[in-house]
Amino acid sequence: MDQPTAPVPPPGCPAHHTGGRVPLYGPEFAADPQAYYTYLRHFGPTAPVELAPGVEATLVTDYAAALQLLQDSGSFRKDARRWRDFNEGRIAPDSPVAPVLAYRPNCMFSDGAEHLRLRQAVTDSMARVDSRRVSQSTEQVSDYLISQFGSRGSVDLLGDYAKQLPLFVFNEIFGCPADIGDRVVYGINGMFDGVNAEQAMGVLFEAVGQLVALKRARPGDDVTSWLMEHPARLTDEEMVHQLALLLVGGNEPLRNLIGNTLHRLLTHDAYAHQGGLIDEAIDDTLWENPPMQNLAPHYPASDMEFAGQKLQAGDLVLVSFAAANTGPALTAARQAGSNRAHLAWSAGPHACPSKDPARQITVTAIENLLNKLPDVELAVPEASLVWRPGPFNRGLTALPARFTPVAAAPRPAARARTEAPARPEPAQQSGRRAERGVWSQFLNWLTR
Ligand code: HEM
Repeated sequence: MDQPTAPVPPPGCPAHHTGGRVPLYGPEFAADPQAYYTYLRHFGPTAPVELAPGVEATLVTDYAAALQLLQDSGSFRKDARRWRDFNEGRIAPDSPVAPVLAYRPNCMFSDGAEHLRLRQAVTDSMARVDSRRVSQSTEQVSDYLISQFGSRGSVDLLGDYAKQLPLFVFNEIFGCPADIGDRVVYGINGMFDGVNAEQAMGVLFEAVGQLVALKRARPGDDVTSWLMEHPARLTDEEMVHQLALLLVGGNEPLRNLIGNTLHRLLTHDAYAHQGGLIDEAIDDTLWENPPMQNLAPHYPASDMEFAGQKLQAGDLVLVSFAAANTGPALTAARQAGSNRAHLAWSAGPHACPSKDPARQITVTAIENLLNKLPDVELAVPEASLVWRPGPFNRGLTALPARFTPVAAAPRPAARARTEAPARPEPAQQSGRRAERGVWSQFLNWLTR
């Protein structure tokens, strides 16, 4: 493939100053990633990028090349222990991208038979989650969250709703009792808020370790217990890492799918607040503003040529789902009526195994919100909204909205599942008290 010479970076793009590598971080990138993708396409199907200061990668922006890579697990491997720059000490241990990219023993970072074994445990266990339970749990959590801000007439739909809802629903389907669930919420929020992220990750892993111990002793009707019972016979260490992947890897994109879709509904007049259009708004979001914009880290197994580009074994290669989705080839496919051909869930053997429950949670969360607050609208000019920086996820920092105040939701006890997670238990093993008790407060509300 011919590479056009000297493409011109978008105005303000710091690519002017980084030896041609385009930085996928910072406020300029967050403000308008699509301008960056348009620019990156000038390099051809792949482009040289920087994910954080000093972290170099090749980004695949072309749809056909992305599919080829995602489906060729012989040439491209997921095991991050192959990452040459990391192995040769060129990645600072405290690099902001290390928590996402560094190896962990879970299905995301494994290949071949090991991947099949770990992934099968996930898909089989998630398949056991009854869709009515997902809807009911989402609706209960949604009612609870609305009850916390409904009488105010104003809300940050990101911080007070989209961010909290998946955490609570996950706590329910993973069977977290109060104390453990509080620390899971604290740990995940802390990791993504970037304040003391390492301490937050410690809290999360400790809580997940305790959840594993609890379910080994007392299995329940939940994903954690089903993972444990699976014929893959996961060790305790594998259980902890698989659970952490599901909790962290599920919550962040789910919060952003809810947030980005709400953003779309509130900023595009084409969507009236009617049930049928929520699905359409979700699809449009997955095409044009996907929650995971760049990920799928892969490493060539050997030196190779790919899409006209020379790659070395152990190079970090990522796929831009957002760029592939909006490139000319896929835009044509979309116009031809192929509404689900986008790559927002990735593709190939590592594609998201939970897109159905994720979509169901999103639909229910938005439907219930719009039913309860039918006149909800953006409370600030759209141009003042701020998107979080970083190369991987695409999400807002806040989504301020206003609406006609509503009375608190009725007490849900009649609808509460009989097997709802146990009421608050002491923070036995660690002796550490949960810093926040939002999950406990929800359980109290649910069963009071
Ligand atoms: C119920 C919520 C979710 C759960 C439990 C979940 C879980 C997972 C897991 C376990 C993987 C790794 C699969 C493997 O390596 O074999 C994965 C991959 C992925 N998920 Fe999800 N996910 C959820 C929601 C979402 C959402 C809302 C999106 C965005 C639309 C998303 C997009 C992706 C993508 C793009 C990948 C591939 C990542 C990569 O290869 O680096 N997921 N998901």
